Amino acid sequence: MVSADRAPRAYLDHAATTALRPSAREAYLATADVLGNPTSIHASGRRARAALDDALDSIAADLGVPRTWLVLTSGGTEADNLAVRGGALGALAADPTRTAVAVCATDHPATLEAARALGTSHEVRELPVDADGRLDPGAVDEALADGRVGLMTLALANNETGILQDVEGLAAIARGHGTLVHTDAVQAVGHADLPAPGAVPLMTMTGHKIGAPVGVGLLVADPDVPLVPQSAGGGQQRGVRSGTLDAPHAAALAAALHETLGDAEAERARLRDLGARLRAGIRALDPSARLTAGDGVDVADHVVHVLFPGADAQSLLYLLDERGIDASAGSACSAGVTQASPVLEAMHVPEHLARGALRLSLGWTSTQDDVARVLAALPEVLERSRAVASLTR
Ligand SMILES: Cc1ncc(COP(=O)(O)O)c(C=O)c1O
Repeated sequence: MVSADRAPRAYLDHAATTALRPSAREAYLATADVLGNPTSIHASGRRARAALDDALDSIAADLGVPRTWLVLTSGGTEADNLAVRGGALGALAADPTRTAVAVCATDHPATLEAARALGTSHEVRELPVDADGRLDPGAVDEALADGRVGLMTLALANNETGILQDVEGLAAIARGHGTLVHTDAVQAVGHADLPAPGAVPLMTMTGHKIGAPVGVGLLVADPDVPLVPQSAGGGQQRGVRSGTLDAPHAAALAAALHETLGDAEAERARLRDLGARLRAGIRALDPSARLTAGDGVDVADHVVHVLFPGADAQSLLYLLDERGIDASAGSACSAGVTQASPVLEAMHVPEHLARGALRLSLGWTSTQDDVARVLAALPEVLERSRAVASLTR
């Protein structure tokens, strides 16, 4: 049984997962009651197929791509694996000299580890970022120049810092070298401008960051891109991703995406305002705090990532948690946060700063009260965290 702890909490961890949207819950439940496998030819199957088709039509219209570009998956991790491994292997099959894959050094393990898991078939080239966490177009050009890189993958918005990459600009460089591009847009949907429809041939999204339930993701994939399937089975979804088609999750994803993108302009402005209040409040209460994304660095609207010198991330989270505030240090997707974040290491953030990293992330249920609560708690939390950290140094 889940404990009935119902004390209201300030949830500032929407980058880990956000609240289920009522529209997505309703769409899920309504479709879950439709009996039938969407690939069965009988009337029940056809009803399930119609529900699935409605969902896919809605998603395709909202993303501005043909429906044939949509491959449903179980989440972002699976979509990333299909894109990175399936795309790199597909490129190699088409051209045996394409024996390398390039990955942004600060990317999520779902792409970094997927590239590494290619094993001996591929050399993995990690693309370095600068101190602002951004890829340098010149370095990308150089890394791809020998024409051996079959696929380059880069996250549009970093899952820890929220820092945005110029995906369209870097994709144009890659195209010049005949390199296929994949972007992980998991953290960007609803919080940053997505690439123009079709500008990037492979793009990952996941449902639970936008208000659909956990368990559904999407690879937006140009059907002309050869993808080697990463699981064998009944050949659904043009043979690229086998498995019974999941109409209820597709319906929930469609509802959540429609609401997210429909609301995006106003909602992004609202979150930018909450984020600005958080940053200003933090600067006022601790002038030594450093915002990880410096001035002029574009960041997704929902992430405020701060480095508190002399503090310790683990105790910060614990002390905030005690006060009813949910936050995060590194990515919630990586187990244990005591070790320095590889993202901050790749940005050459000094260890004494990296140890005091805090990620506050906003979402569609965030309010000014959430911001006020964290700002009210931080002075004491910082003092105590620094006291703890000084004992362990
Ligand atoms: C950038 C990024 N990519 C991929 C994932 C994995 O997505 P999922 O949890 O749907 O597997 C996450 C999860 O936090 C993420 O932030």
